[in-house]
Amino acid sequence: MIGRRSLFTAAGAASAAVSSFFAGRAAEAKEKIKKVAGDVEFRGADGRMERLGSLDLESQMDFTAGFREFNNKNISRAAGMRFQQLLKEKGMDPKAPVTFEQMHALAENDQLIGMSAKTWLANQQVTWKSLQDYFHANADMYLAEMEAADKDGPGSLTLDASIEIPDYAKHEIHIQPGGYVGDPFAGHMYHYGTNSFYIGAIGHNEQDQIHKLTANNIPMPADGKVKRILEVGCGLGQMGCALKERFPDAEVWSTDIGAPMVRYGHMRARDLGIGVNFAQGLAEKTGFPDGHFDMTVSYIMHHELPQPATRAVIEEAYRVTRSGGVYYPVDFNSGGNVGPAYGMFRRWWDHRWNNEVWSREYHGLNFTAEIAQRGFTLNDKTPAALPGFGARHFVRNA
Ligand SMILES: C[S@@+](CC[C@H](N)C(=O)[O-])C[C@H]1O[C@@H](n2cnc3c(N)ncnc32)[C@H](O)[C@@H]1O
Repeated sequence: MIGRRSLFTAAGAASAAVSSFFAGRAAEAKEKIKKVAGDVEFRGADGRMERLGSLDLESQMDFTAGFREFNNKNISRAAGMRFQQLLKEKGMDPKAPVTFEQMHALAENDQLIGMSAKTWLANQQVTWKSLQDYFHANADMYLAEMEAADKDGPGSLTLDASIEIPDYAKHEIHIQPGGYVGDPFAGHMYHYGTNSFYIGAIGHNEQDQIHKLTANNIPMPADGKVKRILEVGCGLGQMGCALKERFPDAEVWSTDIGAPMVRYGHMRARDLGIGVNFAQGLAEKTGFPDGHFDMTVSYIMHHELPQPATRAVIEEAYRVTRSGGVYYPVDFNSGGNVGPAYGMFRRWWDHRWNNEVWSREYHGLNFTAEIAQRGFTLNDKTPAALPGFGARHFVRNA
């Protein structure tokens, strides 16, 4: 069980000023909670997305999501063009792959390229800070809401106070304050903060559109039997929920190393009436019996793992997936840390400044080949889940 206050004493002090700003709204909210049996939804919900607790914060999130989209489309495009110009000036072939070192030497002192990265990151910082300030300023209300949901169904929640979190999982990936394990509102922040991640080439995700699309496209095992499904590195369990909706009779487990992630995910699934079981646990050591699952999935977890952990997770997926069962881990295309210059620059600053600590390791291995070496057969006729993601439909060998 998470200690109410122990995890965020320093951050709580830092948000004291903001706290008074929201105090009026929190008091108003508390009054309303009594009427909705512990569910904090006093500004209503937009489909699957509960509205944030203040119009002010909602407007800020609209702004930062819009700015990120603008940046990706316009500022970043201008920086990409500038990159081409620099390559030309140096007499380099714009189509030839470059290494991180070459790319860095080329772009390091360019103001336009630097500005595109800096504005993107500043926007990311503002997004997280606004969310963290809000949830910490209203901590009692939101903690009480989770406490009321913990033991409620239709699905279950299992937290593991004895779990040893490996050091590699303690980083503040994409500069989210506290990361996935160190802030009781990690799930809340991740949910609202990552909406903007999906805007653009792959669409929107406020209604879990991306997870639903992916879940609905996962091929069936040849014998058509899907009774048990495991999702590892589930975050909020958006994929697990979409799979439960697709296979209402299946037992679905969504697991994640972060207690705040599964706790929020369970509460959210409860509110949506979706019976997914959430559990805190390591993807490399799930504790489930051999051959237990007909389908084992993950969604964008592996680029956040060091290489040994990725290999261990694949081996565990092999152990818990039954013979003929489907393994479907979605993540970015990988294999070699070389690529077109501007793409390499973006990957480098994502790693260095957006704190994607393990992305260089991930891109340095061939994820698909790693899986194929560990007892799975790749079905490469299955189209990729989404643009930029590999087609990773595997069947566990006998
Ligand atoms: C980028 S998030 C993806 C979350 C979710 N699958 C989604 O679709 O949004 C990566 C998730 O993997 C979890 N994670 C990282 N290492 C893990 C491990 N070894 N075992 C289980 N979960 C892990 C993190 O806590 C985080 O929630």
